[in-house]
Amino acid sequence: MNVLVFDTYEELSAAAGQMYVRLLQQKPDCVLGFATGSTPLGLYRFLAEQNQKGVVDFSRVTTFNLDEYYPMDPAHDQSYRYFMNKNLFDNINIDKANTFVPDGTAKDCTKVGAAYDQAIEAHGGIDLQLLGVGRNGHIGFNEPDTALVAGTHVTDLTDDTIDANARFFEKKEDVPTKAITMGMGTIMKARQIVCIISGKNKHEVVKALQNDLVTTDCPATFLKMHPNVTILCDKEAYEG
Ligand code: GLP
Repeated sequence: MNVLVFDTYEELSAAAGQMYVRLLQQKPDCVLGFATGSTPLGLYRFLAEQNQKGVVDFSRVTTFNLDEYYPMDPAHDQSYRYFMNKNLFDNINIDKANTFVPDGTAKDCTKVGAAYDQAIEAHGGIDLQLLGVGRNGHIGFNEPDTALVAGTHVTDLTDDTIDANARFFEKKEDVPTKAITMGMGTIMKARQIVCIISGKNKHEVVKALQNDLVTTDCPATFLKMHPNVTILCDKEAYEG
């Protein structure tokens, strides 16, 4: 695991962005795994700028997002589909038909979860998966638990996550209590992973990434078993 520390969030976002620029130039039809949350916003702005300047082209790119609230209508302004359109897809030359987000309206979630994993495989697998981390160490919506799930599945959100995400809703009671998320196996199958971590409230997760333990209490620690992971963090997250 390669850990890089940056003075500022802007530098971190640009460094993550350069990884995408390199990949998009080498493999214009790459498959990208995207994430939501506030941490990727700087990276998404960077990618939109690079696309508008003509440095990168998304016309042949396919994307798979990590997760979606459940149940959730994609048209809802707090859906992750809405977030991705607003913060990235509407600002780059991607064909939205090639952008996939887990279906928050699914009736048969087991079937829909398996189909999502199969669709990733059918596209040749994810070349570069972006991750943020929850302050409790979750990745996607794989929450700390006694056991983790391999494939894309529906999960209950922990109270801590509902609390952390309440800032985006009018009130805490409006935050969905479930989500549909790529599983740990889905994430670990990506050929390369870039994990971006910003802010003091993520310091405990950065600490957990620096020892040699892998624990379901902190799902992000599973990244230690992946052969090609880059962790980019800002000083605040690194130093606490
Ligand atoms: C949500 C997403 C995660 C994301 C996390 C952190 O819970 N499911 O994928 O990493 O938020 O969000 P933020 O970057 O806003 O701290």
